[in-house]
Amino acid sequence: MVKKYKFGKHFNTDAVVVDIKEDVAENLPYFRVLNVENEIVFKGLLSEGDRVYGLGENSGRLNRIGKIYINYNTDNSFHSLNSKSMYGSHNFFVLDGKTKYGFFFDSPGRVVFDMARTNRAVIDVSVQNAVTLYVLTGDTVYGIVKEFLQIIGKSFVPPLWAFGFMQSRWGYKNERDIREVVEGYKKAGIPIDSVCMDIDYMDRYMDFTVNKKRFPDLAGFVHDMKAQGIKLVPIIDAGVKAKKGYSVDDEGIKLGYFCLDKNGKPFEGAVWPGFAHFPDFLRPEVRKWFGEKFKFLTDMGLDGFWIDMNEPSIFFTRDDLKKFMYKFNKIPGEDGRYETKGVRTSNYKGFYHNADGINTVHHDVHNMYGYEMARSAGEYLNTLPQRYLLFSRSSYIGSHRYGGIWTGDNASNWENLEIFLKQLPSLNMCGLQYVGSDIGGFSLNTTRELLLRWLALGVFTPLMRNHAANTAKHQECYLFENLEDFRSVIGLRYMLLPYIYSEYVKAVLSGEPLVKPLAFMYSDDKIAVKCEDELMFGNEVIIAPFYKKGEKTRKVYLPEDMLQIDYAYGKLSETKVSKGEHLITADVGEVVFFIRDKKCIPIGVFCRNTEELDYDKLKLFGNGKEYKLYKDDGYTKNISKKNIVIMKK
Ligand code: GLC
Repeated sequence: MVKKYKFGKHFNTDAVVVDIKEDVAENLPYFRVLNVENEIVFKGLLSEGDRVYGLGENSGRLNRIGKIYINYNTDNSFHSLNSKSMYGSHNFFVLDGKTKYGFFFDSPGRVVFDMARTNRAVIDVSVQNAVTLYVLTGDTVYGIVKEFLQIIGKSFVPPLWAFGFMQSRWGYKNERDIREVVEGYKKAGIPIDSVCMDIDYMDRYMDFTVNKKRFPDLAGFVHDMKAQGIKLVPIIDAGVKAKKGYSVDDEGIKLGYFCLDKNGKPFEGAVWPGFAHFPDFLRPEVRKWFGEKFKFLTDMGLDGFWIDMNEPSIFFTRDDLKKFMYKFNKIPGEDGRYETKGVRTSNYKGFYHNADGINTVHHDVHNMYGYEMARSAGEYLNTLPQRYLLFSRSSYIGSHRYGGIWTGDNASNWENLEIFLKQLPSLNMCGLQYVGSDIGGFSLNTTRELLLRWLALGVFTPLMRNHAANTAKHQECYLFENLEDFRSVIGLRYMLLPYIYSEYVKAVLSGEPLVKPLAFMYSDDKIAVKCEDELMFGNEVIIAPFYKKGEKTRKVYLPEDMLQIDYAYGKLSETKVSKGEHLITADVGEVVFFIRDKKCIPIGVFCRNTEELDYDKLKLFGNGKEYKLYKDDGYTKNISKKNIVIMKK
C-alpha cells in the first residue's frame, strides 16, 4: 500500500505517475517531523539489525546504514566509497527489519540522509522547503520495491544493439580515429556493437553542429558504419554555447528559453564550449524545442545518444572570473581543457527557472535538471518509429522512463569498481535499469587486470561501455596483451545476451529490478541478507564478481543448492554445488556464475555483434525444465508479454 504526505509547498516533479491518495501529515508513520530553520527534518528510530537499501547512485555499501548521503547532483570526478554526493539523486530507500517500509522523499532540492551515522539508532532525513513523502508498506521489502516501480512507471527499453559492447573515449577526433577503433576490434576478433562520439565531433563544442573538417560527411559515415554492424552514439551537452550567429543560441535567446540570472538576463556559465546558456528544461515548451533539435542528428540515421554535463556542471561564471581574476582562454585548447584551477564552482543560487510560471531559484529544483533534459530528448526520440538509445549523466527518479544513465566520471582504481558493484542494484530498485559505469575507469590509467575484471562485471550490466578521459592512456581492449582474455570475457556477454535482454525486458514488463541484493530474494537467510558482494541477475543467476587487485580466489555464499558455471574462452563447465560457503577461482579471462536450483537459462554461441546473434543456437543450461524467453526484432516499440516464448529442455 502507498500513501502520500505533503510537507511545505508541493512541487510537481512528475516522478510518480499514478494518483496516490493523500493522507494528513499527523498520520505519517515511522517518522517524527521537526521544522528547523528552512528545513524539514524527519527522524526515525532504528531497531537492532535494521538494514536500509536504496538511494540509487550513491556511493558506499549496499546496506546504507552508517553513512551520511547528500543528494545534490554534483560533477565531482573523485569518488571513493565515502563520497557523499554523486551525479544523480534518487531519494528512495527501503527499511528492512521487524518493520518494513519504503520511503520516497520526492523533493527536487537538496536532501540529506543521515543513515544512523550521527546517532546509531536514528535515521535523520533533512529536506529544504518542501517534500512529498510517499510511504510504502508491505510484507516483504521486495514487494515494496515492486510497488515502488509500479508507481514511477515503466523503464525505457533501448534497442537490442545497445546491449552489445560499446567503446568510447574522449579524444576520438575524426572519422579516421573511429574507423581505427572499429578495425582494431575486428582484427582482434573482439565483439563490438557501437562507438561513442565525444564532444570532439562538434564544431567548437556547439550542440547540434558537426565539425566538417573532422567529419566531412557524417550521414555517409553513419551509414557506412551501420553496414559494418556498428552504431555511432554522439554526445549532446546541456550548455548551449553563448554565441551570436549560432542558430541554437540565437533561437533560445529570442524565445526566452534559457535560465535567467538575478537581473533577468540569460545566465552564463562556462562549460566545454566556453560561456554557455542553459535551457530551462523545466518548461515543457523548452523541452520540446531542445528535443526537436535532435532531428538534426536523427535525420543522419543516428538513433543513440548520451547527454552530459547536465547537473548542470558549471566550471565558473563571469562573476567568478572577476572575483578570481584568473587568466583564461575563451575556447579551450585542442584537448578540451580549461585552466580552471581554483575557479570551479557550482553557483546554483545564481540563476532561475520559470517553473509553472513561478520564478524559482535553480538551487531549489537543482536535482531535476538532468532528468528534465533526458525527458526533453526522450520525448522527441519517442516520436521516431523505432526504439532509441539514450543515457544521461545526471538523473532523478523518473529519468528511467526516458533513458538510462552512466555513473559519470570515475577513476581507474579498484575502489571505483567496488563502488559500481553496489550502485548497480541500488539504481535498479530506483527504476533505472539501463545503467553502466565507465569500464576500466575514466580518469587515470587502467591496468589489464582491472579492465578485465571490470569487463567481467560489465557482462552483467545493461550498458557495457569502455570509456576513458582524453588524459588517460588508451584503454581499447585490442591494445593489450593476450587478447584471448578480452575475446573470452566480452564473448561471454554475447553468449548470454539473449538471456540478458530477455531478463531486462521481462523485468521492465513485470516492474521488477533486473539486478538485486540477495536480501530481496532470500530475506529469511541470515547470511544472505548481509551479503554485500554478490548479486542476483534476473531471476535465475547469482554473480560473485572479482573486485580486488590480484585476487584469483574468493569466497561466495550460496543461499541454496546451485549449478556453478565456470566459463573460459567460449567453454562452459557445470558443477553442482550445495548451499553454503565455497571458494571460487577465476583468472582474468574467466568468469564464474551460478544458476539457481530448478531454473535454467539460455546460452548462445560466440558472435561478433548483435546482428549475428543466432537464436537457433541457444541451449538451456541449468537443472530446470524450461525458460521463458523474451525475444523480438530488437527495435519494435511493441514490447509485450506476447513476445515471450517458452523454451523447453
Ligand atoms: C564529462 C563526461 C565524460 C566526457 C567529457 C567530455 O567529463 O562525464 O564522459 O568524456 O565530459 O565530453
